[in-house]
Amino acid sequence: MVYKTIHVLSQIPQLFETTVKALPNCQIINIGLTEWSGKFDLNLNIGDQEISDLQEANIVFGDPNLLAQTLHKLPNVEWMQNTWAGIDWYVNWLSKSGQKPPQHLITRFSGESFGQSMFEYTIGHIIINERNFFKDYINSKLNKKWEKNIVWDFKCINEMTICILGGTGAIGTYMANKFQTLGARVLAYGRSQRTGLSIDKYSTKLDDVLPDCDYLISVLPSTPQTTGLLNNDILKLCAAKKPVFINIGRGSVIAESEIIKALNNQWISGAVLDVFECEPLPDSSPLWSHPKVTITPHNSAITRPKDCVKVFVDNYQKFLSKQPMLYTIDWNRGY
Ligand SMILES: NC(=O)c1ccc[n+]([C@@H]2O[C@H](COP(=O)([O-])OP(=O)(O)OC[C@H]3O[C@@H](n4cnc5c(N)ncnc54)[C@H](OP(=O)(O)O)[C@@H]3O)[C@@H](O)[C@H]2O)c1
Repeated sequence: MVYKTIHVLSQIPQLFETTVKALPNCQIINIGLTEWSGKFDLNLNIGDQEISDLQEANIVFGDPNLLAQTLHKLPNVEWMQNTWAGIDWYVNWLSKSGQKPPQHLITRFSGESFGQSMFEYTIGHIIINERNFFKDYINSKLNKKWEKNIVWDFKCINEMTICILGGTGAIGTYMANKFQTLGARVLAYGRSQRTGLSIDKYSTKLDDVLPDCDYLISVLPSTPQTTGLLNNDILKLCAAKKPVFINIGRGSVIAESEIIKALNNQWISGAVLDVFECEPLPDSSPLWSHPKVTITPHNSAITRPKDCVKVFVDNYQKFLSKQPMLYTIDWNRGY
């Protein structure tokens, strides 16, 4: 079989056009989204028309929130390439519909471009926090005040210990290497036993890593096993060093009430949150007004078409030559 036709099911601007340019010898079909207003909408529903337009598809390149709605409805599909990393849309869809994971291959978009964006996001927040830059900016610019709030005891990156939960994954490994290059000591937590890693310490136990870090970064995915992993006062283990907690993985790893408890009990000294239990974060959330919390609207990494298409093309070549593909979802391992 010659796989020359690719169906695109996405709301990402320029994804279709970039794919057309990258694979000039393929037929790329853009699936129209009947209910779409043109503004990116995570809750967009697809209907019978889209499913019908995809009936002949072997390869679909698209957004997981849309692809999840096609599971078990496309008889010819052999491979789906996602435009982002998380698989929570599939997990939620399967659990809601009571269906089994599909038989066909699904690959995620992850790796270097997300790793670099998320590294830059975290390092930016770390430096702002250490040096108190944001408070100084508000004081001097808005109040026209030349006041040096000197922080005498800040830490430089090469004096810090950074703990990355999920630090052995595609994004976590990339970030760990970057932090190490800047001289930080890096601890990583993951699920599988591993040896020979180049990081300073690796463990599958939270109590090996939580007590010993200045910044605690989570890039854990949302799975049934990671949901609530940091609940039940586990952040009490951080109390000796009071790290800043940075969550760029998924909000389900810790309940909002547990973050507030950890801050108020001074187990952690701050929280920089890009992902939340409930998104968008409701107006009623106490996180909005907590003085030690920084909130960003799930934008620590954004899918740029050029990066995502690069991974797609790479995986397409591997698919054609039957080689192992990048970022494959392994349902037997939970994700
Ligand atoms: N905020 C954003 O804008 C944004 C953007 C991109 C991605 N993300 C999030 O980042 C997540 C990670 O992406 P990735 O591509 O790096 O995923 P990945 O390559 O699959 O890595 C996942 C990491 O989490 C660990 N892990 C998984 N389940 C675990 C468990 N039950 N207990 C302990 N560790 C566990 C894995 O350890 P093992 O290897 O041992 O299984 C691995 O280190 C995505 O799922 C997504 O939710 C967020």
